[in-house]
Amino acid sequence: MGEDQVLRVGFLCSGDIAHRVAGALKKLDQIELYGAASRNRDHAQALADEFGFRRVYGSYEELLEDPDVDLAYVGVPHPWHYELAKMCAEHGKALLLEKPFTINHYQAEEVVRLYQEKGLFLGEALWTRFLPGKKFADDAIAKGLIGDVRLVDANMICSNWVRGRMTDPAMGGGALLDLGVYALNCAVMFLGTDIADVKSTVSKWKTGVDEQEAVLLSYPDGRLGICKASMNGAGDTDGVIFGSKGTIRIENVMDFHRVTVYGPEGKVLAGFDNQKGVLKADGSIDEAWTREADPDNVLRDGHIVGYEYEFLAARKALLEGKKEFAEMSHADTMFLMESYDALRHSWGIDYPAEYGL
Ligand SMILES: NC(=O)c1ccc[n+]([C@@H]2O[C@H](COP(=O)([O-])OP(=O)(O)OC[C@H]3O[C@@H](n4cnc5c(N)ncnc54)[C@H](OP(=O)(O)O)[C@@H]3O)[C@@H](O)[C@H]2O)c1
Repeated sequence: MGEDQVLRVGFLCSGDIAHRVAGALKKLDQIELYGAASRNRDHAQALADEFGFRRVYGSYEELLEDPDVDLAYVGVPHPWHYELAKMCAEHGKALLLEKPFTINHYQAEEVVRLYQEKGLFLGEALWTRFLPGKKFADDAIAKGLIGDVRLVDANMICSNWVRGRMTDPAMGGGALLDLGVYALNCAVMFLGTDIADVKSTVSKWKTGVDEQEAVLLSYPDGRLGICKASMNGAGDTDGVIFGSKGTIRIENVMDFHRVTVYGPEGKVLAGFDNQKGVLKADGSIDEAWTREADPDNVLRDGHIVGYEYEFLAARKALLEGKKEFAEMSHADTMFLMESYDALRHSWGIDYPAEYGL
């Protein structure tokens, strides 16, 4: 990282997520949109023209050979995460890799092993884990506002997703790896990983990938997680954490853009709005709690997308010499990857990219 401590990020991607992430990072002083790379130079140039990247490359190798790139960000479709992650490691680059980390847990294991051997930073861009709305929900639980967490119900039912790479097995398509990731992640974030039993059911799209699924997690002490995902539903991406004394309602389990804490008899106790901060019961801003949930004061800079936080966390990890995130450890990545594999295989779904076909 430069003397000025600005993190120079190099994008190995130029598609949908690349645009959304670049839009979020553009306003941050601590991050520079430094390099844009694509298999097709024109795509990288178009991204650079829109968001102001300093350097443009017509191949991923070229970007990785640039010593001024502090952090590589890979946001191509997941069947190619493995190859690109290995290429990043070989070039000695710290890496933020989009979710799902790889196409299966065998590939994930190898990428993690390679990075650990090389002593380089590696993190999964599961952005939800870094959001202030998620931190607010954690704090509300820790303060005892809803009592003991007993059940988490998380939905990623999305309409108009039956298109493009989503339905294509060669692109790692299906609801689970794009959308279900967030529902499962939400349950595991608040319930943990000591799961006693998993039951699930799936409906497949005509191409063989999963169109929608329901997954039931049972914990040894009776807690439950209910996770649903669909790429062909009417649209509900909300979640609820049910506690013994109250509930936390999450608007969008992917970006936690609004979170409301209800006590007994449904009384509002506190809330979070990702454009305002933490709110008291009367709707006024709780300045102290907002500072805790948003320590880098990203809210100060106006419109929040959400991707800002994972990059600020990567910068902090690199400044502190860490090799993985505290918020999303390698063990967290491996747990989720193994869970996706177990679910998919119980549904009879696999991908050509897992076998190098
Ligand atoms: N965190 C989030 O909120 C979020 C949201 C959406 C997606 N994602 C994840 O981000 C990844 C990319 O999704 P996306 O929606 O951005 O995909 P996309 O719009 O289809 O973009 C894919 C980009 O990857 C590049 N690419 C490199 N190798 C490729 C190959 N062999 N085949 C096709 N494209 C290739 C292409 O760039 P060139 O043609 O210029 O080389 C293309 O622009 C997925 O893993 C997805 O799960 C995350």
